[in-house]
Amino acid sequence: MADQKPQLFELNNGTMKVMVSNYGCIITSLFVPDKDGKLGDVVLGFDTLEPYLNGSAPYFGCIVGRVANRIKEGKFTLNGTEYSLPINNGPNSLHGGLKGFDKVVWEVVEHKQGDNPSITFKYHARDGEEGYPGDLSVKATYTLTSKTTLSLTMEATPENKPTPVNLAQHTYFNLAGHNSGTTILNHTAQIFANHITPVDETLIPTGEIKPVAQTPFDFTTEKRIGTSINEIGLGYDHNYVLDSGEEKLGLKRAVKLKDPVSSRVLNLWTDAPGMQFYTGNYVSGVVGKGGAVYGKHSGVCLETQGFPDSVNKENFPSVVVQTGGKYRHRMVYEFSVE
Ligand SMILES: *[C@@H]1O[C@H](CO)[C@@H](O)[C@H](O)[C@H]1NC(C)=O
Ligand SMILES: *[C@@H]1O[C@H](CO)[C@@H](O)[C@H](O)[C@H]1NC(C)=O
Repeated sequence: MADQKPQLFELNNGTMKVMVSNYGCIITSLFVPDKDGKLGDVVLGFDTLEPYLNGSAPYFGCIVGRVANRIKEGKFTLNGTEYSLPINNGPNSLHGGLKGFDKVVWEVVEHKQGDNPSITFKYHARDGEEGYPGDLSVKATYTLTSKTTLSLTMEATPENKPTPVNLAQHTYFNLAGHNSGTTILNHTAQIFANHITPVDETLIPTGEIKPVAQTPFDFTTEKRIGTSINEIGLGYDHNYVLDSGEEKLGLKRAVKLKDPVSSRVLNLWTDAPGMQFYTGNYVSGVVGKGGAVYGKHSGVCLETQGFPDSVNKENFPSVVVQTGGKYRHRMVYEFSVE
């Protein structure tokens, strides 16, 4: 409903606590225990919704869409019609345009308490909204499925025209704590991907599917994120092809992230084909929760997604959803200590 106000909702199962807003489906805080059982807030964000509303947040915690990541020069052709999107990132269109799904108020459909608390949001995108074709109804549900597991299910149904749909969750994690004063460079990552989709100078994929072996992109075994980050310019901002993770309940393991100091571990599972591994390269001097200052590499994003610019790349898995079809994307964030 257009008259709903942006507000915060709590999911709390006694062990894990998540604060989430109906504005952009933003996760503003996420508390999980460390090796001593001490709760820490492991995501970057703000205490109030004001900074999100006035555009100070570099996509902290939100769901991005209708199409996440970059579309070359904001153009694509579908069923003979050329579509033009707002250009908001160099020469390209990023994360759904000027007012993407991260900058709108979603309707709260259901908010359940109990052992498996959950919240479901719904949004209706109009035909032509931010340049995209067709009316689209979108739903997102966050659920605490166990003491230390958060799941997110995103669905979208085109109502009258085929349209590209590619939703992604854009939380910046720092498992040492958002206010630890340290970057994520000492975290280790294992990414279950033997390939990336390399990009040109404007961060648009060249169309190649390139092996990571013997390159700084190789995270096939657990590696400190900072080890070879300086060999690739500002840092990682690349789509990994999730082609080697074990499977569980229809999901593939995408990444294992670990902070050696707190011993917190995050395993992320998904049914998406790719994951943008983004090391917060453009974050600079953001004053966040409790006055914590977030700089470059203060957090890492693990954005499971369809491949960037798929709509212009015939060899990438299609992100177009036909009328009568349905988009579905599941993610499971499994926290632990080791
Ligand atoms: C493609 O465009 C044609 C002509 O405008 C239209 O008749 C047809 O229904 C469209 N196809 C889909 C799948 O929307
Ligand atoms: C990483 O760990 C080393 C060794 O414990 C420490 O000296 C350094 O300050 C840490 N760096 C960051 C960015 O946390």
